[in-house]
Amino acid sequence: MMPAKVLITRAVFPEVLAHLAAHFEVDYHAVDESLAPSALAARLADKAGALTMPTDRVDAELLAACPQLRAVCNGAVGHNNFDLEAMSRAGVMATNTPGVLDDTTADLAWSLLLASARRVVAADQWLRAGRWDGWRLTGWLGQDVHHATLGILGMGRIGQAVARRAAGFSMRVIYHNRHRLPEAAERECNATWVDKTTLLSEADFLVLLLPYTPGSHHIIGAAELALMKPSAHLVNIARGGIVDDDALVEALAAHRIGGAGLDVFEGEPKLDPRFFALDNVVLTPHIGSASAATRMKMAMLAADNLIAALTGGIPPNLLNPEVRAC
Ligand code: DGY
Repeated sequence: MMPAKVLITRAVFPEVLAHLAAHFEVDYHAVDESLAPSALAARLADKAGALTMPTDRVDAELLAACPQLRAVCNGAVGHNNFDLEAMSRAGVMATNTPGVLDDTTADLAWSLLLASARRVVAADQWLRAGRWDGWRLTGWLGQDVHHATLGILGMGRIGQAVARRAAGFSMRVIYHNRHRLPEAAERECNATWVDKTTLLSEADFLVLLLPYTPGSHHIIGAAELALMKPSAHLVNIARGGIVDDDALVEALAAHRIGGAGLDVFEGEPKLDPRFFALDNVVLTPHIGSASAATRMKMAMLAADNLIAALTGGIPPNLLNPEVRAC
């Protein structure tokens, strides 16, 4: 039997390419840039499967141009680049990569939290600019992290990994989630469920870990920022669009909150240029899961999902099981 044809939409590790090439006829877009929607449709037209990245939009229009497509496997846990309903209607399996990136992403949440609290990046830039002329009692004062209150909005696997790390800082941990965690999980995370208003008004550090959906669009806007303490720091490592960036820029510029650590932005990779002028925000380019080991695991898991989907198995991370059932 002829091997199925699959597309890898942008640069991956050689090991991932070799793994897929052992099972399929691979069309590899080796360039590390997204294909334009029309080019993606053209390359996918004769393919049974694809390994995609979160920068590739898979929607009804694309699916209509790819009648042979049976599986699209995202190299990310977030899948807001997929129109899942359209994929299910078209009979296309969709998968993501949960689990393998939780600790790495939680580590970045803490990097941003600590950097924002202690003004690490602004201090580094100031020092490099040759402006340090000696130690001062009142120089570069930041916020204490230890014994402060950590608030987590979205208490899935990554939220829980962020919460567990707070024990080392003797923090009080509060969280808000649509569904309260089972008691054992709350105990393990030393975390207490609170309503959203309490979370916003009591957190010294608020970490956002929600998936981006129509329901979470701008879940943090001007009204929510106004509820936060003037000393509080906001950390977003989830998805752009959860925060109203315009409202956040204004709150930071007016020092209505203490600071922010942001890994994701509305309309990324283009972000609101006013962020660059603020010294109370730490910015990273969507690198939450970007350790060498974790990115390899994510890409390999996406490849394993694709292999299972196209060789009669059940992909371990199937997002639309109704497709498999038909
Ligand atoms: C994910 O897996 O959703 C990450 O945001 C990609 O880095």
